[in-house]
Amino acid sequence: MSEFTVELRDVVKRFPTPEGGEVFAVNHVTLQIRNGEFFSMLGSSGCGKTTSLRMVAGFEWPTEGEVYIEGRAMGHTPPFKRPVNTVFQNYALFQHMTVYQNVAFGLEMEGAGKQEIARRVGHALEMVQMTGMERRYPKQMSGGQQQRIALARAIVKTPNVLLLDEPLGALDLKLRKEMQLELKALQQKLGITFVYVTHDQEEALTMSDRIAVMSQGKVMQMGTPVEIYERPNCKFVADFIGTSNFMEGGVKSLENGRASVFVPILNAEVTGYAAENVSVGDEVAISIRPEKIRLADKAGLTQNCFEGTVVTTSYIGSDTRLHVDINGLTLKVWEQNKISSLDPAAYYTVGQKVWLTLFPENTLVLPKD
Ligand SMILES: Nc1ncnc2c1ncn2[C@@H]1O[C@H](COP(=O)(O)OP(=O)(O)OP(=O)(O)O)[C@@H](O)[C@H]1O
Ligand SMILES: [Mg+2]
Repeated sequence: MSEFTVELRDVVKRFPTPEGGEVFAVNHVTLQIRNGEFFSMLGSSGCGKTTSLRMVAGFEWPTEGEVYIEGRAMGHTPPFKRPVNTVFQNYALFQHMTVYQNVAFGLEMEGAGKQEIARRVGHALEMVQMTGMERRYPKQMSGGQQQRIALARAIVKTPNVLLLDEPLGALDLKLRKEMQLELKALQQKLGITFVYVTHDQEEALTMSDRIAVMSQGKVMQMGTPVEIYERPNCKFVADFIGTSNFMEGGVKSLENGRASVFVPILNAEVTGYAAENVSVGDEVAISIRPEKIRLADKAGLTQNCFEGTVVTTSYIGSDTRLHVDINGLTLKVWEQNKISSLDPAAYYTVGQKVWLTLFPENTLVLPKD
């Protein structure tokens, strides 16, 4: 068996438009998903997530390239002959059927025996903590409960791969967060591969073993949540995931993965961690996250240390969030409130002179998109 459960090799999907043109919904995507992995496709609306998932499920076929499942080229294999199951965004339960009938439906289609169906439906409902709801109809349940039934219906056939398209999209924030943890626990318990589509970055970071960040039909970066957040490979990813400060400049020198960049607005050189495809002479974006900047009321390191003025402060409990101006460049800086104090002098105030240190390992030199 292949090392990868799902593989897309140079997959393209073009759709004709009514205007007579074409859209590249998926544009040369190559990715490999390992057995038992929780893999997410993350990106904003229209970036090609659903189309990618539908090609794995078999509801769409690639215009070019190939989808492999468990090492087998899928070609035009129809959905029901693929070892995958899909949970769609609008959970599409059968409204006129009870919970039991909804979950049992797929097994009945396969011609499973009554006793086996009862055993497997019981087990699936137990997995999603819905035991006792067998006789309810969908409209007699909350959104979250219906979502669990949709999940039970997908796992009852014990697929090797579960494809989930924004399965928690319809739920309120609190329930969504609960379900995220439950889904992750369920995936670990079942030990099956999840391919999960979401446009919610926090959701992707919380649940995934690895994430593919997509934009306009392309995969911009693939990696673990930590890699994606700490080492984005381009400006787009740094901007899309979390909050970043950016400044522009030109690379003067490169040594041991460290780049020295002249930043005109600071009229100074900034040293940072160079992304892979950055070369001397490139115009680059420097990215640094607000929580990584060190604030002090005295000058610190000589390198990457700049004097600025506090422009705004907002105390939000766990953090104080400031805007600090350096030479007309405004940086967001987040200070964790690690010490409890009522003394105003414990906090930075508007108009105060401060020193900012941009530690080179947190200062990322990235290709502009
Ligand atoms: N059947 C179709 N015919 C024509 N264009 C399509 C078709 N399906 C999708 N598209 C286009 O392909 C692109 C990708 O669509 P897709 O549904 O994969 O995006 P998505 O990332 O799932 O977005 P969302 O987060 O809004 O669900 C969009 O520009 C969309 O308009
Ligand atoms: Mg979609």
